[in-house]
Amino acid sequence: MSRLLPQGCTRIKTLYQGAEAIVDLCEWLGREVVVKTRVSKGYRVRELDDLIRRSRTVREASLLSSAKKAGVNTPFVYHVNPVEGWIIMSYAGSRSLRSMQGSSIFASLIRMLGDAVGRLHSAGIVHGDLTFSNVLVSEGRLTLIDFGLGEFSNEVEKKAEDIYTFFSSLTALQDSETMMRLFLEGYRASARESAKRVEERLREIGSRGRYVEKELRRRLERKSRENVSPET
Ligand SMILES: Nc1ncnc2c1ncn2[C@@H]1O[C@H](COP(=O)(O)OP(=O)(O)OP(=O)(O)O)[C@@H](O)[C@H]1O
Ligand SMILES: [Mg+2]
Repeated sequence: MSRLLPQGCTRIKTLYQGAEAIVDLCEWLGREVVVKTRVSKGYRVRELDDLIRRSRTVREASLLSSAKKAGVNTPFVYHVNPVEGWIIMSYAGSRSLRSMQGSSIFASLIRMLGDAVGRLHSAGIVHGDLTFSNVLVSEGRLTLIDFGLGEFSNEVEKKAEDIYTFFSSLTALQDSETMMRLFLEGYRASARESAKRVEERLREIGSRGRYVEKELRRRLERKSRENVSPET
């Protein structure tokens, strides 16, 4: 494929090809780097598309660097080209938190993640897409990636939503309650006083979620009752 890469970059392999971005592992100035290219969306008006790509590229690079300053491990940003939608950053390995499920250190990684998210939130950064695949693991250390949906915000609701997103992916696990407890333990340790308000909001969001689920279930049950004809 002859997709354009920053000057001096040689593609080793494509790591990921998604709807918004393509991620290539490359060699650049003698080191292994990752080039994340935010792709154009053909269906958007050209000017609008350029504007969105540029602003998201700049925002992601800036959030990656600010998170690092806040003590959270993120890839080093080496170079940003908003016009082309490129971010050149350090390679953080190929293991995601998802692949660590079942490992003996999984529980401690979850606690570490809680601590990292607490640091982010204390620095006024919301990740926006906290999922297993956006947390990479290498030599027992976590690296947070993919700040494309992130923002600088101190809103309690946004912080609670951040955690809620992660908890939603935890619910599939058998010991999800323990994992949530460990996450919050880590979160409290770094977010300190603000943790309390965020946790309160998290519980509110949880009960809103349960209310919506209950309503949906009720409606579905009513619908299925209505669909049963009197003859049957
Ligand atoms: N610095 C990095 N080091 C190692 N792998 C990376 C790095 N950055 C991205 N990747 C790999 O590329 C994948 C996609 O990257 P990323 O999560 O940043 O894009 P994305 O925004 O999720 O794309 P989409 O918007 O299409 O979902 C990651 O899940 C990870 O496997
Ligand atoms: Mg991602």
